[in-house]
Amino acid sequence: MKIDAGRLCRELDELATFSDAPAPAVTRVVFTEQDRLARDYLKRLCRAAGLVIREDAVGNTFARWVGREPELPAVATGSHFDAIPNAGRYDGTLGVLGGLEAIRALQAAGKSPRRSLELLMFTSEEPTRFGIGCLGSRLLSGSLDAEAGERLRDREGVTLNQARADYAGGLSSVKLTPGHYHAFVELHIEQGPLLERAGIGLGVVTAIAAPASLRVTIDGVGGHAGAVLMPERRDAFLAGAELALAVEAAALSTGSIDTVGTAGLCQVFPGAVNSVPSRCYLELDIRDIDEARRDRVLVSIATASEQIAARRQVAIRTEVINADPPARCAPMVVEALVASCEALGWPHQRMISRAYHDSLFLSLVAPTAMLFVPCRDGVSHRPDEYASPEDMARGVRVLAHALAALAS
Ligand code: GLV
Ligand code: MN
Ligand code: MN
Repeated sequence: MKIDAGRLCRELDELATFSDAPAPAVTRVVFTEQDRLARDYLKRLCRAAGLVIREDAVGNTFARWVGREPELPAVATGSHFDAIPNAGRYDGTLGVLGGLEAIRALQAAGKSPRRSLELLMFTSEEPTRFGIGCLGSRLLSGSLDAEAGERLRDREGVTLNQARADYAGGLSSVKLTPGHYHAFVELHIEQGPLLERAGIGLGVVTAIAAPASLRVTIDGVGGHAGAVLMPERRDAFLAGAELALAVEAAALSTGSIDTVGTAGLCQVFPGAVNSVPSRCYLELDIRDIDEARRDRVLVSIATASEQIAARRQVAIRTEVINADPPARCAPMVVEALVASCEALGWPHQRMISRAYHDSLFLSLVAPTAMLFVPCRDGVSHRPDEYASPEDMARGVRVLAHALAALAS
C-alpha cells in the first residue's frame, strides 16, 4: 500500500489558502465564505475518489466508500476543517485529508472492504464562533439538544440556525442512531511535545481529557480615567484580571500536571485608554483527565469570583458553556491501532489527549480511538504549527491499515 505524502501535503497547502488570515496563519471560522470554499474543495476531492457524499443539517459531511456489505455499520474516520484565529494548517485538517489519503491508498491497493469506509468532516470543532467546541459531533452524539440552534449565538447575535441556513432540516435529525458505526478512528497531530521528545512517531490515544468552558461577564462602573478617584473605582477589567489569576491559581492548586486553566479571551469595554472599564468579558477553559478534580477547580473559580465581586463591588455573571466528562477510548479500536503499528514495525506510545477532539463525542455513540503523530516542538494553535511529511505519511499508513482491519 502506497501513501502519496506529496499529494497529502499539496492538499493541506491548498486547503490552507482558504483562510481569513494571511499565510502562514490560517483562520477559518465555521459558516464563513472561507469555510464554504474549504468544504467545496473537500467535496471535489471526495467525488474524484468516487465517494458518496451526504451532509446533515449542521453541515457535518460524510463521504462513503461503499463496502461489499453496505448494510453493515461502517468504519469511519475524520476530523475537522475549521481553524481558530491565527492557527496553523494541520490541526484537524490532517485527520480529514489524511483520512481521505488512507481511503485512496486502500483503493489504489485494490482492497475491497467488507464494511463501508466513511470519511467525516465535523462542523465547528473549534469554539470560535458559538463558544462551544465540537458542535457537529455533540449533535451527532445527542449531547446537544436541537434548541441549541436558537440558543447559541455568535458575538454579532447571529443564531446557529441562521448561520447554518445552507443546510436543510432540523438539528434533531443530526443525531446518529446507536450502532450506526462499527468503529471510529481520528488521526490528529499531537499538539504537545511528548512524541517528539520520546523520538516516537505514533501515539495511540487511550483517553481524552475532560474540558469545561465558561463565559464570564463583569459589570462595574466606568468613567473618566483622570477624574474617577482610585478608592472609588469599580473597574470591571481589574476584577477580570483578578479572576484570570484565580483561574491559574486554581489549576495549579491541584498539584497535577494534568490540570490546566486558561483565560484565553478578554474584552474590555468601552476600550479607550482614558476610560475606566465598565464591562469585561472573559472566556475560560479548564481541563483535566480527572473529571472530579476538574470540577473542584470549577468550584474554586466560582468561589473566587464571588469574593472578587464583593470586594470590588462589581457584578459577575458566569455561564457554564460546557463541562464534559473525559472519554475512555474503546479497547477494540485501540488494539486495532496498536496491531497496525506493530504489523508495520513502527514504535508507538499509548497516551492521553489533553486537547479535546470530536472523538470525545463520537466515543459516546461508536467504539472510538485516536492516532497521534508528532508536531514540531509540540506547537499547535499557532501559524508555525508543523508536522513533517514523513510523520504524517506514517500516521496515514497506520490509519489505512487499521481501517482495513476494522472493516474486514
Ligand atoms: C481543540 O481545539 C481544543 O481546544 O482542544
Ligand atoms: Mn484546535
Ligand atoms: Mn483539532
